[in-house]
Amino acid sequence: MAKKTFGIDFGTNAIKVYKKGEGVILSERSAVSLLENGKRAIAIGEKAYEMFEKAPPSIHVSLPLSRGVVAHLDEMVSLWDYMGEHISGKRKLTHCQFYLAVPADITEVEKRAYSKIITKSQTKPKKVFLIDKPIADAVGLGLDIDRSRGIMLVNLGADTTEITILSLGGIVVSKLIPYGGNDFDRNIQNYLRKKYNFVIGLKTAENIKKKLVSASEIADSIDVIGRDVLKGLPVEMTIPADEIYPLTKDIFSSMTSETRSMLEHTPPEISKEIRDNGIYLTGGTSLIAGLDQFFANRVNIRVNTVTHAEKTVVKGLGYLAEHPKFAGRYAVPIEL
Ligand SMILES: Nc1ncnc2c1ncn2[C@@H]1O[C@H](COP(=O)(O)OP(=O)(O)OP(=O)(O)O)[C@@H](O)[C@H]1O
Ligand SMILES: [Mg+2]
Repeated sequence: MAKKTFGIDFGTNAIKVYKKGEGVILSERSAVSLLENGKRAIAIGEKAYEMFEKAPPSIHVSLPLSRGVVAHLDEMVSLWDYMGEHISGKRKLTHCQFYLAVPADITEVEKRAYSKIITKSQTKPKKVFLIDKPIADAVGLGLDIDRSRGIMLVNLGADTTEITILSLGGIVVSKLIPYGGNDFDRNIQNYLRKKYNFVIGLKTAENIKKKLVSASEIADSIDVIGRDVLKGLPVEMTIPADEIYPLTKDIFSSMTSETRSMLEHTPPEISKEIRDNGIYLTGGTSLIAGLDQFFANRVNIRVNTVTHAEKTVVKGLGYLAEHPKFAGRYAVPIEL
């Protein structure tokens, strides 16, 4: 018997970990700081992300996941080793079982890279299973995936938007689109630099997004501190929402047109049930104000709002970890 079972959602923005019998025990930024001269991690998570864009040359800060794939495996392994030590305390995290969520619409090699995070680490697992992320997402929403003939999910994450249709326990179609909430942050950062020579970090850009980005025009503003490139000095600037709105419109439109197009290409017996059930928006970016109504109008369908939108995938992994018989139908074991 394996000692312990974990479910892990390796998200671009945050790694979320479920421990069987305990619940979601961790949600940490997918960031790691490493000493430049070695592989050793000196900080992970929010602490490492704080150093991002500010670290001295002797420290390398890595965001090892990108656009739904493992972009820097060795750095990700270092991150996991550090995280594993934190989770296990004094005991080593060996002989455990892992359920890992992976995007459905990536290659087998890319899926394998997620299992390598665990198998190449010091963890020495007993078993590793891959679960298609949309399956975990739907299970985390409490949906009856075995019996339902039509479920449509749009997971709006940090670096990706994953649109999926499920029917009778299987994935009918899934598309991973390489943009998400972090693209708003990057657009905001670039715009302010170009227009005002005003430089801010991605963390500040994310705060601006959370306050000002909405799927419809709003009247609001935020004061932020940045650096004036010409003067080389820190300055405060008031940013109004109406300047930010044009930077986001295209992304919102492509999210909804991709969703509408997938629905239009779905066989009628499935799309009928989807229309009856409404679609589900999950992922942290779905928390953007007015996005549910925007989808409802553009896709012409009812939208179900979700609580804990960032955690639905890890909650689904948790359910699978607690119900191994059910999980057996969806989990793909990795040869160790
Ligand atoms: N209230 C909010 N308003 C707008 N955006 C938000 C809000 N809360 C979180 N986000 C954004 O949601 C994203 C994180 O969501 P999530 O945790 O689902 O992503 P992830 O799983 O790490 O990424 P991915 O699935 O793309 O790999 C970030 O871009 C974050 O800025
Ligand atoms: Mg995600």
